Amino acid sequence: MQVIVTKDYDEMSRVAAEIFAEGIKANPEIRLGLATGSTPVGMYQCLIEKNKAGEIDFSKVVTFNLDEYYPITPDNDQSYIYFMRHNLFDHVNINMENVHIPNGQAPDIDQEGKDYDALMEKFGWTDIQLLGVGRNGHIAFNEPDDELVAGTHKTDLTEDTIDANARFFASIDDVPRQAITMGVGPIMKAKKIVVLISGANKHEAFEKLLSGQITTQCPITLMNLHRDVVIIADQAAAEGK
Ligand code: F6R
Repeated sequence: MQVIVTKDYDEMSRVAAEIFAEGIKANPEIRLGLATGSTPVGMYQCLIEKNKAGEIDFSKVVTFNLDEYYPITPDNDQSYIYFMRHNLFDHVNINMENVHIPNGQAPDIDQEGKDYDALMEKFGWTDIQLLGVGRNGHIAFNEPDDELVAGTHKTDLTEDTIDANARFFASIDDVPRQAITMGVGPIMKAKKIVVLISGANKHEAFEKLLSGQITTQCPITLMNLHRDVVIIADQAAAEGK
């Protein structure tokens, strides 16, 4: 596990964007696993700039997002498909046919999870998976628990996550209570995983990750089992202040 500590959020974003840009240059048909939330926004901005400058080409890039609220419609400005369009896809030359996000209004959500995994398997899983981390250590919406689920599945959000995400909604009552999330199986099948950690409120998760102890009560610690992980943390996350 490689750990890079940057002076601030902007540097974290630039370092991460460089890894993804190099990946796209080396393999224009690269399969990327993408995340939402506030952490990757700066990195997406850097990738948009590189695309506009002609440095990277998204036309053949294939993406799989980690998760989506459930139930939610795609036109809801808090849906993750809306977020991805707004923060990346609408600003680069990606082919939307190559974009995959779990369907937050699938009539059969269990089948949706199985179909999502089957599709990822057909593509040979992802080459680089981007992860943020919840302040409780969650990855995607795999929340701390006695057991974790391997496949893509519907899940209940914890009160901590609902509380953390309330900042994006008009009121905490508007935050969906459930989501469909990639399970830890597809995440761990990525050839390379890039984890972004920003802000003092993520310090505890950062410390647990670096402790080397692995526990389902802090899902980010599973990164210790993967052979190619790059952690990029800003100083606030690394030092907790
Ligand atoms: C988002 C996701 C979540 C976030 C995490 C951190 O697709 O899977 O695990 O990465 O909740 O969110 P932010 O970046 O908003 O602190």
